[in-house]
Amino acid sequence: MRFSIQVALAVTLLNTADASSLYRRNRFNSASNNTADTSHLKTWWHATGEVNTGTPVQDGNVRQSHLYSVQVASSISHNLSTFYDSFAYESIPGNGMGTDNASGVGTTMAWSSFLYGSDATVKISRSDNWSIGNYTIRPTNLNLNSTTYGGDVYISIPYNPRGYRFSVEFGDDLQTISGPEEKSPWNSLLIFASPMEDPSIIPSSSSSSSLVVQEGLISGLDSTQASAVIFKPGVYYCTGYSHMKLSSSVNWVYFAPGAYVKGAVEFSNTGSEVKATGHGVLSGEQYVWYADPDSNYTTGSDNNGLRMWSGQTGSSQQTFTLNGPTVNTPPFNSMDWNGDLTLMTTVATDYKQVGSFYAQTDGLEFYPGSQARDIFYHVNDDTIKTYYSNINIDGVVVWKYATAPVVQFGWASRELSNITINDVSVIHQSYDNAGDNPGLIGSDNAYTASTTGISSNHSTANVSNTMQDITWSNFRAEGPSACLFRICALENLRNVTISNAWIEKFASSDLNTTESLLPVFYDSITGAQVNVSNFVIDNFVVGSTKVTADNAGSVGQIDVDSAYASAVRYQ
Ligand SMILES: *[C@@H]1O[C@H](CO)[C@@H](O)[C@H](O)[C@H]1NC(C)=O
Ligand SMILES: *[C@@H]1O[C@H](CO)[C@@H](O)[C@H](O)[C@H]1NC(C)=O
Ligand SMILES: *[C@@H]1O[C@H](CO)[C@@H](O)[C@H](O)[C@H]1NC(C)=O
Ligand SMILES: *[C@@H]1O[C@H](CO)[C@@H](O)[C@H](O)[C@H]1NC(C)=O
Ligand SMILES: *[C@@H]1O[C@H](CO)[C@@H](O)[C@H](O)[C@H]1NC(C)=O
Ligand SMILES: *[C@@H]1O[C@H](CO)[C@@H](O)[C@H](O)[C@H]1NC(C)=O
Ligand SMILES: *[C@@H]1O[C@H](CO)[C@@H](O)[C@H](O)[C@H]1NC(C)=O
Ligand SMILES: *[C@@H]1O[C@H](CO)[C@@H](O)[C@H](O)[C@H]1NC(C)=O
Ligand SMILES: *[C@@H]1O[C@H](CO)[C@@H](O)[C@H](O)[C@H]1NC(C)=O
Ligand SMILES: *[C@@H]1O[C@H](CO)[C@@H](O)[C@H](O)[C@H]1NC(C)=O
Ligand SMILES: *[C@@H]1O[C@H](CO)[C@@H](O)[C@H](O)[C@H]1NC(C)=O
Ligand SMILES: *[C@@H]1O[C@H](CO)[C@@H](O)[C@H](O)[C@H]1NC(C)=O
Repeated sequence: MRFSIQVALAVTLLNTADASSLYRRNRFNSASNNTADTSHLKTWWHATGEVNTGTPVQDGNVRQSHLYSVQVASSISHNLSTFYDSFAYESIPGNGMGTDNASGVGTTMAWSSFLYGSDATVKISRSDNWSIGNYTIRPTNLNLNSTTYGGDVYISIPYNPRGYRFSVEFGDDLQTISGPEEKSPWNSLLIFASPMEDPSIIPSSSSSSSLVVQEGLISGLDSTQASAVIFKPGVYYCTGYSHMKLSSSVNWVYFAPGAYVKGAVEFSNTGSEVKATGHGVLSGEQYVWYADPDSNYTTGSDNNGLRMWSGQTGSSQQTFTLNGPTVNTPPFNSMDWNGDLTLMTTVATDYKQVGSFYAQTDGLEFYPGSQARDIFYHVNDDTIKTYYSNINIDGVVVWKYATAPVVQFGWASRELSNITINDVSVIHQSYDNAGDNPGLIGSDNAYTASTTGISSNHSTANVSNTMQDITWSNFRAEGPSACLFRICALENLRNVTISNAWIEKFASSDLNTTESLLPVFYDSITGAQVNVSNFVIDNFVVGSTKVTADNAGSVGQIDVDSAYASAVRYQ
């Protein structure tokens, strides 16, 4: 009774600005297990949750948030008085195995996921005595309605077939990292609301061509003749000295909501499509940084670190379809295929990457013709990688550590066209020097140039190549930011548009990260100057000031080489 009155009040408060409340109370209950499973709301729980912020958890356990508990109510199948438990996972830097080349030491990252088919309310409780003051939901432009009541935060999540991916950040739990003003949570909490799973992403577990994996130690996937491998709710693990080398018959891996799989996936099937679907978790937590399978998963150094997703092209086109999973703690680049990569394409939807504290934890590979939407990246290197043509990416939330730009198209001279990246919200970034190759949009110098930063050898381009017909639109950076772009033009640039970019404010200029640069580059053989034409900066706003040709240097911190100045147009 008390509960439903309280919640009715809280829900009423959700539509008001009033958060004047409230009590200080501890109603945290880590042992609860009251989940929803209807056509409007699905939540899940792990009976083997282990609260442990210091060491690896037991193989059969799942690290559970030491601080947060999350519950969800649906507006339809249940009324808003009935909240269901939604497991709050947790990731810690280096998984407590050592923090070499890990960022974020001393922090934790929690997340909770659920599926919904109608408006829902998320309730977040903290196990400490939170002195209610303030909290921020990022990206801030989601404008989610929320309130506090009785020591808990209630957030209203309207139904959206594309779901929501956001961070809830408490004002009394912020640390300052690298850049003098950058503030991010000590104990972060991400919420992932996804639409109910379409039947097309769920393989039949009764089919003779499906293998339902037994809980516990994973084995036999390299010899199965099944085409679909199914992880039902439960906990599975490979150990830190093995990963899932799938037999050539397997073209589909399904991670049910509530499946927690410690391992990494390697396809050997070379058919037209391989798939990884479902809203379970694939966790690299048992691997050390840069685990090299060729040296018994010890830290390597020759770009052979274990990818969470890998495969091999054959002699014909292959699509890698990714829909739903959350990847935790990748030990290295999250994805790479081998073979003729022009035969590959990636189609990614509703994909989340968390716990990327290690260095070199890149985002996905977008091979020619790739399409991606609704992605959350916690990431510590090249993030949105566009090394190929005909790519369309829409809706990415990025939490960035210090290395490499958010959009990366450099490292080598490339022939590229028809790339559109729309709606990118960077909620944190922590670049602290020019050698980080900072920025929202960037092209790093040739890998062979061997020095970091933009001031190295500028005779590394190939003017036989051109990048053209590129649109980067609706980019936003919350908090102190590095530059809008820093481009080593390793090919000619033609018809490139940055449209509707917003930087809340720049980080300190002492860090040498804030200046947008487009220096002159030359062909490595002929010495010919790289050509730049029709480079449009359309509606770039810093704070509330629009950047124009007149204030590009002072407000936009844009410094284009004089050789290219006339090619850059502000509108
Ligand atoms: C929830 O509790 C029931 C009864 O104790 C148990 O059978 C079930 O396995 C639990 N489910 C989870 C996901 O923990
Ligand atoms: C809402 O759910 C609560 C708890 O299950 C129940 O007591 C109440 O009668 C329900 N209200 C409505 C309007 O259905
Ligand atoms: C950390 O990474 C750097 C750069 O990749 C490397 O030089 C260094 O050896 C690494 N440290 C450890 C302890 O592996
Ligand atoms: C929270 O406050 C209560 C009442 O003052 C106290 O008993 C409890 O130990 C406190 N808990 C924490 C985690 O500080
Ligand atoms: C927030 O509440 C207002 C007032 O009820 C409503 O108009 C708006 O759509 C809500 N926004 C979201 C994102 O739910
Ligand atoms: C938010 O709350 C914290 C802790 O109570 C306080 O230090 C900080 O000043 C508050 N920030 C704002 C913007 O109110
Ligand atoms: C890999 O290393 C682990 C841990 O030291 C050891 O138990 C295992 O036998 C090794 N495997 C191989 C194939 O050497
Ligand atoms: C541009 O790329 C998109 C996304 O892959 C594709 O749908 C479209 O057909 C491409 N356009 C051309 C002209 O190739
Ligand atoms: C420059 O690019 C062209 C076209 O892609 C290629 O044929 C040539 O080998 C490249 N030159 C160098 C030096 O890499
Ligand atoms: C410039 O590129 C855009 C896509 O970014 C394309 O729609 C447009 O047609 C191109 N314009 C010219 C003149 O090629
Ligand atoms: C920024 O550049 C200046 C001048 O080159 C240099 O003295 C300073 O150390 C740099 N700061 C950082 C954080 O790299
Ligand atoms: C710059 O790079 C080019 C191409 O790799 C190379 O030929 C040249 O020697 C380099 N210049 C310097 C100063 O290192």
